[in-house]
Amino acid sequence: MEKMSVRDADVKGKRVLVRVDFNVPLSEQGQITDDTRIRAALPTIRYLVQQGAKVILASHFGRPKGQRNLKYSLKPVAQRLGELLGHPVPLAADCVGKEVRDAVAKLQSGEVLLLENVRFHPEEEKNDPAFARELASLADLYVNDAFGTAHRAHASTEGVAHYIPGVAGFLMQKEVEVMGKALEAPERPFMAIIGGAKVSDKIGVIENLLAKVDVLIIGGGMANTFLRAEGYAVGKSLLEEDKVPLAQDLMAKAKAKGVSLELPTDVVVAPGLDAGVTPRVVPVSQIPEQEMVLDIGPESAERFASRVAQAKTLVWNGPLGVFENPLFAKGTERMAQAVAESPALSIVGGGDSVAAVGKMGVADRITHISTGGGASLEFLEGKTLPGVAALKDRA
Ligand code: 3PG
Repeated sequence: MEKMSVRDADVKGKRVLVRVDFNVPLSEQGQITDDTRIRAALPTIRYLVQQGAKVILASHFGRPKGQRNLKYSLKPVAQRLGELLGHPVPLAADCVGKEVRDAVAKLQSGEVLLLENVRFHPEEEKNDPAFARELASLADLYVNDAFGTAHRAHASTEGVAHYIPGVAGFLMQKEVEVMGKALEAPERPFMAIIGGAKVSDKIGVIENLLAKVDVLIIGGGMANTFLRAEGYAVGKSLLEEDKVPLAQDLMAKAKAKGVSLELPTDVVVAPGLDAGVTPRVVPVSQIPEQEMVLDIGPESAERFASRVAQAKTLVWNGPLGVFENPLFAKGTERMAQAVAESPALSIVGGGDSVAAVGKMGVADRITHISTGGGASLEFLEGKTLPGVAALKDRA
């Protein structure tokens, strides 16, 4: 069911509470190292400002565990948002309470106020109804633009919509639309590239995608469990021994559905991740007993890249090797390049694969880069996201 959008609501002169996901990475020195999520919320914020709404922004930042801890203050975000909007954005001292109510009462049409981290209150993550009602009392309308947090049923992402009408912001709409279309009506061939360390993190995604894709490429640490299921010895590699039967089952399901499940045929191995190790490329049938698989090999990377070149719809989640280490980043980088070169509708989600695309300088050649890590994964699993479900259905 399609949800109502901010464009469907009359916002002029109204107090509008906008849940955004400003959970951005900070350096040790407290500098924002990637402001993508702030930029991604600008279309909704600018639209509301232009329409003469009184804009109240709410977000979480990190995991302060329900304590007021200024290490997790949204102060650097307020500063950056001000720079992007071209005028300073005041940061309220809290997200609820008298001071906040007074600040909201003074807001003029077209002005923006950022509330302090909603997770300074334990009630936020508990989705406490009284806390949700208090947040809701600040506004006439709720706009959820926090796709990255839509998989959490928290007070500011779900609870608040029980007290004031909730509609989707432009980012939320775009994320749900692009990924929904890929899953429901993909142009074929539809290919998914799934990587990352563990099979156990991706079981739901693989199961859901097996019912939809034509080709499923598996890389990263999780490929070891599939290689083991095929009978290969994987040395000292990361392996989920207890998931080997599941990997066998998924391979059988893929076969039964006519999905081509592709595993690496060569891999990069080393005795460990310590500095000074010398990586080598070996076929999967010759993984040394005392070494571990840390990336896909060049032959596999080229094979995967030529598969990707044939796709009409592509979904990529998770790196294909230990991407943080340049010695084991080549497989992931080749994939970023292949996805960028492909004319397919391409969707990249998840922190590391998004970082790979950014590092290769090809982000602008990807159709859609999701701002959601956990949220995009749950969406690809076919789960209903509570932050979306709580919004008003379009009649
Ligand atoms: C994220 O960064 O994935 C979202 O902001 C959600 O954060 P959380 O995992 O702390 O709920």
